[in-house]
Amino acid sequence: MLCKPIMCGIVGYVGKHKAADILIEGLKRLEYRGYDSAGLALLDEGGIELMKKTGRVDVVAKVAQSRPTTATMGISHTRWATHGGVTDGNAHPHLSWDGKIALVHNGVIENYAFLKAELEAKGVTFRSETDTEVLANLIAFCYDAESVSNGGGYSAAFVQAVRQALLQVEGTYGIAAMCADVPGELVGARKGSPLIIGVGNGENMIGSDVAAFAGRTQNVVYLNDGQVVHLHRGDFSITTVDSLSIDPVISKIDWSVEDADLGHYPHFMLKEIFEQPMAIENAMRGRFSQDGSTAQFGGLNIDPRELRQIDRIVFLGCGTAWHSCLVAEYLIEKFARIPVEVEYASEFRYRNAPLDKNTLVFTVSQSGETIDTLEAMREAMRKGYRVLGITNAVGSTIARENDGGIYQHSGPEIGVASTKAFTAQVHIAAMLALYLGRMRDMSFTDGRHVVSALQKTPGLISQVLDRAEEIEHIAHKYADKNDFLFLGRQLMFPIALEGALKLKEISYIHAEGYPAAEMKHGPIALICPDCPTVAFAPKGEIFKKVLSNIQEIKAREGPVIAITNAGKEFPEGLADDVIKLPESPEVVQPTLFTVPVQLLAYYIAVARGCDVDKPRNLAKSVTVE
Ligand code: G6P
Repeated sequence: MLCKPIMCGIVGYVGKHKAADILIEGLKRLEYRGYDSAGLALLDEGGIELMKKTGRVDVVAKVAQSRPTTATMGISHTRWATHGGVTDGNAHPHLSWDGKIALVHNGVIENYAFLKAELEAKGVTFRSETDTEVLANLIAFCYDAESVSNGGGYSAAFVQAVRQALLQVEGTYGIAAMCADVPGELVGARKGSPLIIGVGNGENMIGSDVAAFAGRTQNVVYLNDGQVVHLHRGDFSITTVDSLSIDPVISKIDWSVEDADLGHYPHFMLKEIFEQPMAIENAMRGRFSQDGSTAQFGGLNIDPRELRQIDRIVFLGCGTAWHSCLVAEYLIEKFARIPVEVEYASEFRYRNAPLDKNTLVFTVSQSGETIDTLEAMREAMRKGYRVLGITNAVGSTIARENDGGIYQHSGPEIGVASTKAFTAQVHIAAMLALYLGRMRDMSFTDGRHVVSALQKTPGLISQVLDRAEEIEHIAHKYADKNDFLFLGRQLMFPIALEGALKLKEISYIHAEGYPAAEMKHGPIALICPDCPTVAFAPKGEIFKKVLSNIQEIKAREGPVIAITNAGKEFPEGLADDVIKLPESPEVVQPTLFTVPVQLLAYYIAVARGCDVDKPRNLAKSVTVE
């Protein structure tokens, strides 16, 4: 059976320092991409040394420490598999049958069966169930032929062999390869899966994400699909798979190693929850007009007159990002009166949705690499629509391929459960709604009120974070429950969905988000003393209705944790626990009400002994369908 690596993280290093330590450090920073098994291959005068194990990166790190290796180059991999067993044999790197080529791979070789049969017919034997081993053997086969015709020019033959093999491959790949005959050189390539070059001083790296280079270099080159990089210690060159030369464009990463470290926090998720005031500040920096009545964005690449003609917007995203799209729908329809539709990117790409000529498409993605979102974007672009993006990862594939967009500037998000990236997306959605609204019917004065409300958000979030201990206490009270309901209406409905998702993701508790009024049409049957409800009760039009919903739950002996910004208006004793938030205008409420449910999920997961930053079965960035 094919053992299919679907997310995975790749790190390669060639330089003058001990490669094993650098690769392990890089892998640990990429573990969010998968953590079923890990491995590395090192190359020195003694040849290729391979270490790979099921389990976390720490397991293979121990193996590496126990060996006296001084190699200064190598490749490595952390894996997240779907089909087939998680075994040492299926872990990467994979060696070709002759031991010449070592390869790590992120993606799926779709024609692996055909290629494997061809290689088997030529006498090649296989040791694993992976498609990656097929590619390693194919490269080795091409290398044999190339080195003979090159008259022993091993270096050129190696690069050419990788190109030759890739030309025969159908599917997706981000790869790093090395050849036993060519010490001091690595080859990488990408199609569909991310691969980035870290340009160092007397050393170079390749990785699936810039996080792999933290502490070593901030200079990077983003490879495009169909490109191959040949790395030495002191330089590198890029070509296409069909050998055309490419001039590299070096970019600078705008965050430092401290941003990607835990600091004094026990988990990245908690650190990132507490980073939200700063993430929101960063999302707003330089983005309000001088007269303080609207937002402005530098990278939309669309003429305001053209934007005025838009009469429909489609938002696409997955998971948490999809929830922020729902907030965008509500706010844009309210402020700008433009009809908005929100679609799961994975559904949109296959359903041939009719798009009107004045439709604008927005993708929302933290990583900018989610394959469903990327392919949905490409499909809309193929149809000729303008596609803009809200993305956190600078230089990611979505950010590079779309027509323009808005960077979140949230900094690296490492916890698998998205927190600060979500609230920044929600905040940017509000700014976008304001911008579009001011182009239409929203008055100058109303615009200034919205700007002033948005600017208060970081301070208001800090006030909620000050209540973390109180929320921890509530979390302990309910940590043993196995079912939760999250109820919210209007702007709070996406937040109810997000609250339920956070709890599911990191504590493995069954949780459902519902529009509060819909409860009576089904979920009310779940209400009992063992099923707590988290009820969002912001002041405003629907406040009293939500209070009635809470009464209905209490009448059926369901415990209620209410989250409200109401003061005395919230009846004493109505809910079992009340998390009181500061007074806030409606536009800020989705961001503000998210923070307590993030903390609730976090503390419940910790109380249940769950691995908060690396929840079972999940990966942060899903780069294959
Ligand atoms: C995965 C993650 C989710 C995330 C979703 C979209 O499923 O587990 O937490 O929300 O992908 O990710 P994106 O990077 O596109 O925002």
